[in-house]
Amino acid sequence: MAYARALLKLSGEALMGEQPYGIDPAIVQSIAEDVSQVVSNGTQLAIVVGGGNIFRGLKGSAAGMDRATADYVGMLATVMNAITLQDGLERAGVPTRVQTAIEMKEVAEPYIRRKAIRHLEKGRVVVFGGGCGNPFFTTDTTAALRAAEINANVVFKATKVDGVYDRDPKQFPDAIRYKNLTFQEVLSREIGVMDSTAIALCKDNNIPIVVFNLFEPGNISKAVAGETVGSRISNTS
Ligand code: GTP
Repeated sequence: MAYARALLKLSGEALMGEQPYGIDPAIVQSIAEDVSQVVSNGTQLAIVVGGGNIFRGLKGSAAGMDRATADYVGMLATVMNAITLQDGLERAGVPTRVQTAIEMKEVAEPYIRRKAIRHLEKGRVVVFGGGCGNPFFTTDTTAALRAAEINANVVFKATKVDGVYDRDPKQFPDAIRYKNLTFQEVLSREIGVMDSTAIALCKDNNIPIVVFNLFEPGNISKAVAGETVGSRISNTS
């Protein structure tokens, strides 16, 4: 096992699968099976989930909505995803706790760092919903923040693409995928893999990020085992 404790960032869009909106149960099941494998191998896993499949704060503000208000709606969307994911994980036999950054204790536990760590130590998956509870911060930044808070060894960013490319692979078929790159390269070349706040947090706390394709079943387990999947961003290339 390469990593003792990992933070997995799942984008809301990833949960959508082929659907135009919402959550594809088949994707949730596939993630749940992968996560079950990871946890049974002894890795402690926390998950930060996005909300873009339901509501995206930036899109709302682009349409004229007040940015902070739009971000709060986005945060609520992530709570729906967190609870849905918990349901899927528990149906796959993985004990899971949801903690929310915005207190709504009838729905889920509030975020309590030490309690989250205790859950992880007991082999439970902890899903963090509600972003970091503040507007103007992304769920990628939340992933970096929570990873630092729980002393995770790595951030896994599972997305729709299989890594970080030098150009947009959809537009440029000859785009080259990086296997390794540094935080400094990501920041100076403005590579849009995660926002700069998230990258800077991981850089300062020396937490590597592995970016890989969520839709290849088994990729989460492979990444946890330290196999080469996607692209790895760290302080040393
Ligand atoms: P231990 O302390 O290790 O026993 O952890 P536990 O999570 O099994 O026990 P606890 O009694 O804290 O929680 C039991 C269940 O209630 C779990 O599913 C928790 O997620 C849930 N729970 C705990 N606190 C809250 C809360 O404030 N709100 C909601 N909605 N659920 C909670």
